[in-house]
Amino acid sequence: TAAEKGGYEWFMAKEIDEQPKAVADTLLGRVGADGRLQLDEMRLSDDELREIDKIIVIACGTASYAGLVAKYAIEHWTRIPCEVELASEFRYRDPIIDRSTLVVAISQSGETMDTLMAIRYARQQRARVLSICNTNGSTIPRESDAVIYTHAGPEIAVASTKGFLSQMVACYLLGLYLAQVKGAKYGDEISHVIDELHAIPAKVQRMLDEGDQVRKLAADLVDRRSFLFLGRHVGFPVALEGALKLKELAYVHAEGFAAGELKHGPIALVEKGLPMFVVVPPRARDQLQEKIVSNIQEVRARGAYTIVLVEDGDDSVVPFADVVIRLPRTPTLLQPLVATVPLQIFAGELAELLGHDVDQPRNLAKSVTVE
Ligand code: G6P
Repeated sequence: TAAEKGGYEWFMAKEIDEQPKAVADTLLGRVGADGRLQLDEMRLSDDELREIDKIIVIACGTASYAGLVAKYAIEHWTRIPCEVELASEFRYRDPIIDRSTLVVAISQSGETMDTLMAIRYARQQRARVLSICNTNGSTIPRESDAVIYTHAGPEIAVASTKGFLSQMVACYLLGLYLAQVKGAKYGDEISHVIDELHAIPAKVQRMLDEGDQVRKLAADLVDRRSFLFLGRHVGFPVALEGALKLKELAYVHAEGFAAGELKHGPIALVEKGLPMFVVVPPRARDQLQEKIVSNIQEVRARGAYTIVLVEDGDDSVVPFADVVIRLPRTPTLLQPLVATVPLQIFAGELAELLGHDVDQPRNLAKSVTVE
């Protein structure tokens, strides 16, 4: 109803705007006065967690991209090998799992059938299962050994937005918690990252406040039928999510690529006027940053219309960018929390300009309860 939408035309627009709160609420109460993380619903003991020697993240759709981001963070902070797999593929390939495997299921609804079947399979194989979920008491957390709830509040629009940001936050918390359980070696980095996480809601708010830039861009590009997204490191899942949102909402062809793969195929797609979003890693990652700048030059030279998401103060890409979208500075691993937001706004705006139902895209369901 109109009242539930709180003055917004679409639930999705409201949910995008609720993201600073979704991030803050997911962090709330999880850092003790001593600066140590506490995850109250974590029903696995520290001893059990110390036995974990492999992590497999399973999820579907947007949640699987939160899993891709999680892999970078979890492996870096914990040194525990972490794989990410689509839930629909997982149990049909005879995966190697045992008691010392932690299977992490990410699901906003907690009811996605592919994800549910995957965790049932994992538990049969005696793996420990932890779910990251936004819906209290839903099936997936009920059937898990442990749960970290995201506190995004109800998500009504079919396409996930605040659910996604809060899933990434929960994944970071899990990675930091496991690092903490494993010992103090990464202690300094843990407390630094926790401080940086607390700074994220204000940075997301800034992306919202600057949303008119992308809305105008959507109006300029409303007649385009194809969009490419490039990123690398954690910017790669951001590129995948930017493309998925466009497919879901605007029904246009959109693909995300790892920037390093450009020369192995996607560059053949580039022609004059093709819109290409590029997520540039922070300058602190100078090697990655330099490589992506040369990617931008390459596609620009072939006529692409380049829309570059780049942190404040990095002007190296400006000569090759048709549009520069500024991002607040964050550590590399946290950049998806800010870089995703303009891509969500862009997709929603394009869908609206095309006259589509932003909340209920054709052929899609909020929660896919069939395999
Ligand atoms: C559907 C929704 C997506 C969502 C996916 C996984 O496809 O349209 O937005 O990412 O399901 O949903 P879950 O509830 O498991 O996170």
